[in-house]
Amino acid sequence: MTEETPARVNMEKIVSLCQRRGFIFPGSEIYGGLSSCWDYGPLGVELKRNVKEAWWRAVVQERDDVIGLDASILMHPRTWAASGHLEGFADPLVECKGCHLRWRSDELEGDRCPSCGGELTEPRLFNLMFKTFMGPVEEEASVVYLRPETAQGMFVNFQNVVNTTRKRLPFGIAQIGKAFRNEITTGNFIFRSREFEQMEIEFFVKPGTDEEWFNYWLEERLNWYVKLGIKRENLRLREHTKGELAHYAKVCYDIDYLFPMGWAELEGVANRGDFDLVQHASFSGKSLDYFDDDTKERFIPYIIEPSAGVDRSFLALLCDAYDEEPDKEEIRVLLHLHPALAPFKVAVLPLSRREQLVKAAKEIYADLRQCWMVSYDDAQSIGRRYRRQDEIGTPFCVTIDFQSLEDKQVTIRERDSMNQIRIPIAELKSTLEAKLSGEDLFVLPPGGQIWKEDD
Ligand code: GAP
Repeated sequence: MTEETPARVNMEKIVSLCQRRGFIFPGSEIYGGLSSCWDYGPLGVELKRNVKEAWWRAVVQERDDVIGLDASILMHPRTWAASGHLEGFADPLVECKGCHLRWRSDELEGDRCPSCGGELTEPRLFNLMFKTFMGPVEEEASVVYLRPETAQGMFVNFQNVVNTTRKRLPFGIAQIGKAFRNEITTGNFIFRSREFEQMEIEFFVKPGTDEEWFNYWLEERLNWYVKLGIKRENLRLREHTKGELAHYAKVCYDIDYLFPMGWAELEGVANRGDFDLVQHASFSGKSLDYFDDDTKERFIPYIIEPSAGVDRSFLALLCDAYDEEPDKEEIRVLLHLHPALAPFKVAVLPLSRREQLVKAAKEIYADLRQCWMVSYDDAQSIGRRYRRQDEIGTPFCVTIDFQSLEDKQVTIRERDSMNQIRIPIAELKSTLEAKLSGEDLFVLPPGGQIWKEDD
């Protein structure tokens, strides 16, 4: 990470918003929390689902060369011998002889404890995999590990997928799921934790075409973040130096984001060569090669791996969407979230709690809920309610006023511009659908009109 920080938002504001509005809570909070474990609240779970849904849509649904998988978190222990994790998935750890705090020696600036200045022990390698036991007997023979990446589930199922789908190269397997790493140093909110989610693709290609596919996926993945609204200037590509490269990688680039604490990895795109299939074939004794019907050749495919973090994408998308604007005497906090990501697409707001208005508003609320996640709010002034929706990124508010009871029309108010239109209730669903897909607010349905500015 570098010292460069974007001025627009700091981590305190993001953490405060997340806790205040129910995006993220500290895990096990009533017991004082559990270090670096986080619980996604009612709004967080929606945003997180939408991030995963957007990824799945882009890499599986809209393509015909990637299929999905959901492998078990617990895998045969030999998996981790073959993958190199038992041997090599370790960080150098030092301990302070004074306060006994532990640090990653490769991340320390000097040779003293950053907390108390005490003397440090010699570094020793600390394996990051969580160990547990399968079955009732806690003995060496029943040791299993929580997977530290989802990738291995896709490698060991390569032949199953080829046999059942009859997919021909090049094709990919995609998976979203939990991964666990007993990180020595965690922090920066959800940026580095011990339990997190990954969205990984293992794309199998013919050797010799790997460089071309590597470049393709690097660009594809970078563009995914841009399409979801992250500003291009807050993203960069960074090639791993020889010293940084993982044991399996021929070449690897990080897609970095300019987080409040500086540039840091959002996603890694690696050319893993044939390392994984060769290793699993050798350790399992099962053939994992591929027969090319066209050329009648048999070979072990190379693998291009775009590997993204769900939680880091969540954090980057929140940081990038966060904005503050002067608002009379106050400040309007808003999230410019892409409609596909916003926890609620629409909020239904009756102007007052008068019975007739509430009845009409609840009918609209029930109807819209069939299509989208919709919020309903009738507490306090309409201005305050708009601000509450802005702060959680709701793209559109639908307001029902007394005139609505007469003319069967409602107003739609847009989050970013605060502009409003007034349209017939009969046109509401189709209008919202068009606006959520990106149509300009001022393209009006029959009977619609431009309304006044937000107050
Ligand atoms: N299969 C390759 C692999 O796991 P990685 O760079 O170790 O590569 C990929 O992890 C992505 O997973 C990272 O870019 C990051 O987004 C996410 N990630 C890794 N460790 C994490 C942690 N401790 N907390 C949150 N996200 C993490």
